[in-house]
Amino acid sequence: MKDFRLPASFADAVDFDARLKDIDPALGCDADLLDKTGPMGQSIQIGNKTLRNRFAIHPMEGWDGTHEGLPSEATLRRWRRFGLSGASLIWGGEAFAVVPEGRANPNQLHQGSSASAGDGLKGLLKELCIGREEAGVEQQDFFAGLQLTHSGRWSSPTKAGASPRIAYRHPTLDERAGVQSDEAILTDEEIAALPGKYAAAALLAAEAGFGFVDVKCCHGYLLHEFLSARSRPGPWGGDFEGRTRLFREIVAAVREAAPAIEIGVRLSVTDLFPFSSGEEGRGEPDGLEKNLPYEAAFGLNPDNPLQPDFAEPFRFISLLEKMGISLINLTVGSPYYCPHAQRPAAFPPSDGYQPPVDPLESVAAHLLAARACKEEFPHMIFVGSGYSYLQDWLPHVAQNEIREGHVDFVGLGRMVLSYPELPTDILAGRPLRKKQVCRTFSDCTTGPRNGMPSGCYPLDPHYRGLPEAKRIRALRPRKN
Ligand SMILES: Cc1cc2nc3c(=O)[nH]c(=O)nc-3n(C[C@H](O)[C@H](O)[C@H](O)COP(=O)(O)O)c2cc1C
Repeated sequence: MKDFRLPASFADAVDFDARLKDIDPALGCDADLLDKTGPMGQSIQIGNKTLRNRFAIHPMEGWDGTHEGLPSEATLRRWRRFGLSGASLIWGGEAFAVVPEGRANPNQLHQGSSASAGDGLKGLLKELCIGREEAGVEQQDFFAGLQLTHSGRWSSPTKAGASPRIAYRHPTLDERAGVQSDEAILTDEEIAALPGKYAAAALLAAEAGFGFVDVKCCHGYLLHEFLSARSRPGPWGGDFEGRTRLFREIVAAVREAAPAIEIGVRLSVTDLFPFSSGEEGRGEPDGLEKNLPYEAAFGLNPDNPLQPDFAEPFRFISLLEKMGISLINLTVGSPYYCPHAQRPAAFPPSDGYQPPVDPLESVAAHLLAARACKEEFPHMIFVGSGYSYLQDWLPHVAQNEIREGHVDFVGLGRMVLSYPELPTDILAGRPLRKKQVCRTFSDCTTGPRNGMPSGCYPLDPHYRGLPEAKRIRALRPRKN
C-alpha cells in the first residue's frame, strides 16, 4: 500500500486542486481544459520566431546511439515522436556529448571523430519534421535545439564502466561516482580545451539547421558541478566569478564559432542532499548531519541542504540576462542522487528508493522553483520541468501555470515517451487518451541503469514487444 494517493485516484480536477492547495495554498489547477484558443495555444516570440503553443519537449536520451555516436533507428523513431507532439519548442532533443570521453554511456550521441556526425544531426531534424507532418502541424512554427553536454562526474563512455572526470573532490558524491583519487580532477589544461569542443559541436548543430544549443548546466554533469566548485583552487573555482568562468568561456567560444545560433541553458536551479535507500527501502538523506554545513551544491541552503537557496541561482540567471541569454529550462537536482526530486515517480527505478514524500510534493518543488524564477526575471523565457507525474491532471496544471504567467513553456519528459500526441490532443480539444498516460513506473530509467536502451516499456507497443521488457519488469524494486 502506498502512503500517498496516486493521481489517477482523484475523482476530478477539483478534487486534485484541493490536494495541490493542501501542499501549498498558492498552487492550483484549472477545472476545464481549453483548446488552442486557451493559454496553451498562446503565441510567444523567441528571437524572430513566433511559436504557436506553450508545450516544450525536454531532452530525453535513449541510450541507443551507434558505437560511433550516431543516431540508430530507435533514436530516429524517438525524434519522429517528438515531432508528432506538435510541441513548438524542442529543447535539446537529447544529450549530445562534446567529447567522446564525456559520454554518460557508451551509446550516447557525440561529435567524436566521425565525419558523419553532422549528417546524424541533420537526420534527427528531418525526423522531427516527418513527425510534425504526420501530426498535421505547420513546419515553420517550431524551434529546435541540441543539448551539448560533458557528463563530468557521471562519465561512463565505454563498456568498462565509470570514468569520472570531476571539477573537485566531493564529500558525498565521490564514492557514488567511483572517484578514487585526485587523478579524476580535470587539469587546468584539460579545462582550457573544452570551450573549443563546445564551439565545434555548436557549429555542427548550426550547420545541421538547429536554432539553438543548450549549454547544459544541470543534473550533476560537468558544468553544473563547476557552479559549486568552491573548493577548487585556480581560475575555474572558488568565488562566483571563478565558478562561472568555464561557462562564460564556452558561451564566448560558441558565439565566435557559430554567431547565428541562439544559446539556451538547462539549469538545475536548486539541488538536494544525496538520498539513498533507508528503512523499508524508503529514500533518506544519507549522512546529512555529519556533512553540515553542506557547501558542495548549487542553490541549496548549506545549513539545511533539503531547502533551496535561490541567491546564487538568481545571480547566475542575472548573469545570463546580461550575456543576452534568455532561454532557460529549469530543472532540479540530479537523477543520480535524488531521482525522486528530479523526476518524481510513483515507482522508483531499480537503483532508486521508495519516494520519501508524496511525489506530488516533489512536483510542487519544481512548480514553485519555476514561479520564483519567473517572478524575479519576468523577461526571461522559462521552461518548467517535472510535470509527468501529474498524469491525468498534467494539462489542468499546465493550463493554470501558463494562464497565470508562472512559466512560459510546460516541458514534457517521460510523458512524451508514452503519449507523444498529448499536446496535439489538448490543442485540438480532444479528450486525453488515458491508456497512454505515463504512470511513472520508471522502466525508462531502469532499462539504461542495467545496460538496456530506454523507452516506455509498459505503454509504447514498440518497447513492450522487445525481449528487454520482461527483464526490466523483473528488475522493478519491490517495497519491503
Ligand atoms: C529516459 C530519460 C532520459 C533523459 N534524458 C535526458 C537528457 O538527455 N538530458 C536532460 O537534460 N534530461 C534528461 N532527462 C530528464 C528529463 O528531461 C526530465 O527532466 C525528467 O524526466 C522530468 O520531467 P518529466 O516529469 O516530464 O519526466 C531524461 C529522463 C529520462 C526519464
